[in-house]
Amino acid sequence: MKVMAFNGSPRKEWNTATLLKKTLEGAVSKGAEVELIHLYDLRYKGCISCFACKEKGGRSYGKCAVQDDLSPIFKKVKAADAVIFGSPIYLGSVTGEMQSFMERLIFPCIKYTDPPESLFPRKIPTGFIYTMNVNEEQMAECGYSQRFATIERLLRIIFGSSEMLICCDTCQFEDYSKVVAPRFDPEMKSRRRREVFPKDCQKAFEMGARFANYTG
Ligand SMILES: Cc1cc2nc3c(=O)[nH]c(=O)nc-3n(C[C@H](O)[C@H](O)[C@H](O)COP(=O)(O)O)c2cc1C
Repeated sequence: MKVMAFNGSPRKEWNTATLLKKTLEGAVSKGAEVELIHLYDLRYKGCISCFACKEKGGRSYGKCAVQDDLSPIFKKVKAADAVIFGSPIYLGSVTGEMQSFMERLIFPCIKYTDPPESLFPRKIPTGFIYTMNVNEEQMAECGYSQRFATIERLLRIIFGSSEMLICCDTCQFEDYSKVVAPRFDPEMKSRRRREVFPKDCQKAFEMGARFANYTG
């Protein structure tokens, strides 16, 4: 059992990375082998619309033809038994790196049938962890849920199942007194960090443990 996690934040020790590490701890607790990949360590671009992955009888049908740092990663994903994605919300969506990664991973696996079918060879559990500044109420007002639902639908089509963990009102700055951000109440942020973030970490741990026990 191999569980892979992809960090779409440039920060390797903050909210998103911490939650992803918790999922992997959960998977390890059930005996899984795990790997965390920081997308910002890799050099790649988003889909370039070459359509080699859609070419009839083509060598790269169902696979991304572009050769770069993502090429060996796609091979690992094909062999993985569970995949967990994590991204902060940047300007209302996932980070550019995560978006580009998903374009390259998901688009080649979508068969343009109606309804769409998957060219990914196996059914595996997937999860998506989102972290963001806004609280739950503001998130609903901003309409983020629609974006999350689209990603979940795509992951379900390709991999067979998907679930999400939404972590709101995260601590963005180590020291709020050093930045111009009067919109945030540092005391409330640190209370939330103490009281709610550990619960999100526990949910992440449970997700990893559940995925490692997945039987289909
Ligand atoms: C460039 C940038 C854009 C952001 N845009 C949003 C946003 O639109 N909505 C939001 O709720 N938070 C936004 N944030 C805050 C981050 O989503 C939040 O701090 C997140 O938890 C950071 O994840 P990390 O700690 O793993 O890096 C933004 C942060 C940055 C740096």
